This record gives sequence, C-alpha cells and structure tokens, in this order.
Amino acid sequence: MHGLLPTNGSTQLHREPYAPVLLVTPLGDPIKASGLKPQTNYVFHYPFEATPVFLLNLGKPALPQSLSTKSRDAYAWPGGVGPQKSVVAFSAICAHQLVYPTREVSFISFRKTRAQRGVQDELIHCCADHSQYDPARGAQVLSGPASQPLCAVLLSHDRKTDQLMAYATLGGELFDDFFKKYEMKLSLDVGPKARNTVTSQAVVMELDKFCRNSIQC
Ligand code: FES
Repeated sequence: MHGLLPTNGSTQLHREPYAPVLLVTPLGDPIKASGLKPQTNYVFHYPFEATPVFLLNLGKPALPQSLSTKSRDAYAWPGGVGPQKSVVAFSAICAHQLVYPTREVSFISFRKTRAQRGVQDELIHCCADHSQYDPARGAQVLSGPASQPLCAVLLSHDRKTDQLMAYATLGGELFDDFFKKYEMKLSLDVGPKARNTVTSQAVVMELDKFCRNSIQC
C-alpha cells in the first residue's frame, strides 16, 4: 500500500519509501549526475529487481509539479536533482497497459525528437498505444490512453560527490498489477528474485545497451 502523508496542509504526498540505493555503473562505480549524457535513455531497476526505471538528464531544469493519480490522489513531484536540477527518474512501466523495456525489446522510451504520432519533442513515448508523458513535468500524460503519470522514483543528489541515490516512489504505483500480468514471463526472465526489493546498489545502463531492440514508432 502507498503512504499518503500530509505535507503542507493542502498538498498530499503519495509516497512509498523503499531502501535507499546508490546508482552505479555496470562496473560498480558510482554514477555521477554531471556525467549523464543529456537526453539519453538510461535504465536501472527499482524498487524491485524486475521493475525498470528510466533515468534521464533532461539537459534543462525540471521544476516541481502538482499531479494526481487516476484515483485522484494529489501529490507534489519535487522536480529534477543534480547540478542543473535536470536529472529525473520514472518507472518505465507504461500506465496504460504496463508495457515495459526488456532485454529483447522496448516499446517505451524518451524521444529527443517526437515520434511519428508524437505531440511534441522530448517526451517519453509508448509505441503500444501512443501514450506520451512529459518527463520535465513529473511524467504528466500529454496524449494517449494512459490515465495517470508514470510513477516517479525519487532521487537524492550529493553535491560533494555528485552521486545519486534512489530512495522512494511517488505517485501511482502499478507494481502489483505488473507482477500479476507478467508472472510467467518474469519468472523465466528474472527468476525467483523478481519481486525482491533492490538493496544497496542499482546498476544503470544506457537503454541501447540494456535492450537489443528499442522500437521507434
Ligand atoms: S501500453 Fe503504453 S500506451 Fe498502451
């Protein structure tokens, strides 16, 4: 279940804490926020071993945003982190029908320039049914059938070391539905640890290296 914590009286925060994890390269070195290539899809898994997350350096500051889930729970997305406040993270599970990036194929990704049926540049576009999310605005839905923003993953940034940690989700989690829908596939692809929570570290990879076939629609 989600935590629904009052913040400043009028705004409510729909936030679920998980273990804080350090974001690292495949070699185990901490990721540096200023080393993330702008407008490039990175993927890590959080809060569970099998639940993918997009990590993006938008190349411009992402300001805080008021949003709500499909059940009309309001939450305040805090915006980007890092030296330029441009680094954001969102669950890569589409809020429409739970399409997500696997090692074989990805129908959903950030698009620097708009897709054929894209409404604008710089959106996360799901090619399954063309839901489009604006990562600069908390992954708010701009077009398509998705009924709520992508669930945000909250990041903290250490100014001294430039390292990044993921520590919570915020918004409409779809993990129960995800594990139910893909139970068989995940048991083959990820095995019995699929639903284990990630602890201590999460490996970040570029989507193009993680996934063999990133669909461009
Ligand atoms: S599953 Fe993504 S738009 Fe339908």
